[in-house]
Amino acid sequence: MIDLTLLLNRESGDPLYAQLYHYIKKDILNGKLPADSRLPSIRSLSSHLHISRNTVDMAYQQLLAEGYVQSRPRSGLYIMDLKLEALPLSHVVSKNWLENSIQDSPEIRYNFRYGDVDAEHFPFATWRKLSNQSLLQNQMKLFSYGDPLGEPGLRSEIANYLHSSRGVNCSPDQIIIGAGVQYLLGVLSGLIGNVSHGIAMEDPGYDGVRTVFQHKGLNIHPIPLEADGLHIHKLYKSNSRIVYITPSHQFPYGMVMPLAKRMQLLKWATDQNGIIIEDDYDSEFRYVGKPIPSLQSLDTQQRTVYLGTFSKCLLPSLRIAYMVLPHAMVELHRKQDYRLYDQTVSHFQQNTLELFMSNGHWEAHIRKMRKVYRQKQFTLISMIQKMMGAQVTIIGEDAGLHILLRVHNGMDEHKLIATAEKEGVQVYPVSPFWAQPAQAEQSMVQIGFGGLSIEDITEGVYALHRAWFGV
Ligand SMILES: Cc1ncc(COP(=O)(O)O)c(C=O)c1O
Repeated sequence: MIDLTLLLNRESGDPLYAQLYHYIKKDILNGKLPADSRLPSIRSLSSHLHISRNTVDMAYQQLLAEGYVQSRPRSGLYIMDLKLEALPLSHVVSKNWLENSIQDSPEIRYNFRYGDVDAEHFPFATWRKLSNQSLLQNQMKLFSYGDPLGEPGLRSEIANYLHSSRGVNCSPDQIIIGAGVQYLLGVLSGLIGNVSHGIAMEDPGYDGVRTVFQHKGLNIHPIPLEADGLHIHKLYKSNSRIVYITPSHQFPYGMVMPLAKRMQLLKWATDQNGIIIEDDYDSEFRYVGKPIPSLQSLDTQQRTVYLGTFSKCLLPSLRIAYMVLPHAMVELHRKQDYRLYDQTVSHFQQNTLELFMSNGHWEAHIRKMRKVYRQKQFTLISMIQKMMGAQVTIIGEDAGLHILLRVHNGMDEHKLIATAEKEGVQVYPVSPFWAQPAQAEQSMVQIGFGGLSIEDITEGVYALHRAWFGV
């Protein structure tokens, strides 16, 4: 068995498990840890290094997931043989990457996918502990469907959180929990379906939501944007009585709707006897300036439906989002038998999240993640500015987990994506966000940064520079 002795730095920003993982990985790659040798057991290494078992376990899990070690039943973890001929294809690619050899069509090494979130700072140990606690405390509840609106305890936590963080005024019985914003908007479309004149939404706007409205048979009115968000005059002209909007961070452009415009929008709702659907999907990630109150908090007429999700700040795979209905719509929801729809999120996950929130972990996690993402965004933007300067325009840097990049090199969206791919970088098209994709901005791509490390963001920007400007 190998002896591992290393100095872990508790002061550095890097979590201990990541330091341990990098140390072992490096020694595997440079051959100091030979193939087929066994890693120390979790127990012995944790006591040897004076760190928790959980820390060692997380480092080992990562090595296992990336194929640096393999598990042998009843024996332990063994170093993989990384000689090229002995490797499966996926490892050949990563080994080639480590050797920096650039092939014609290399595997994607830097995926700037919007929707991915940071894995390194997720509090796995806490989540595991609370999951166990939830299982033990509520065993009998596993055998029933649970409250169709969502567990009362979680709804109450969400109500408190929304009040303190976004000024949202609501009681827990106005909240409906569901497996994602799309699911909840599907339910909402049913509730508002018989309102004539269709539904207005920002153009460009979130295609995931546009598709839901289309599938529900709603007539969509695309409303263009101004520099500060939705064009209110055009909204009036559309004759719609319902608008779906992302005011905290317009999707995809990222502008934050100023207070004055929020008031105009609320006035529009009063004038039209209308409803505003406010999607506050990543409101936690505002990096500069004071947060602007949500529309729901400014609305004195009960005309706003407020939506939020745990996909951005916590885990997309949890599939937990929520919708706050005005009182009259809660009544409609009841009368139209929507409570016959069973809850879509497991009781077990809801309860774990409730414990996470009630024990203060959620607030702490938001604070931590805001710092993490601010740093990632800062790295991305400053690297782009440093490398590409006036050859590009960065859009949407006020908030969020992505930016848009307008590239002034004569390439269209398709070419920008294809050339980036050749350098091992994946960036994403913006044209699906337009109601008429042909009207989309021509030389623009979307760059999400949530899931990439600072190093990968930096490397990724270098690669994009090579791809688009040939240097
Ligand atoms: C504008 C917007 N709303 C909502 C969501 C998704 O939320 P959920 O994962 O809860 O469906 C996204 C995800 O990308 C989004 O961009």
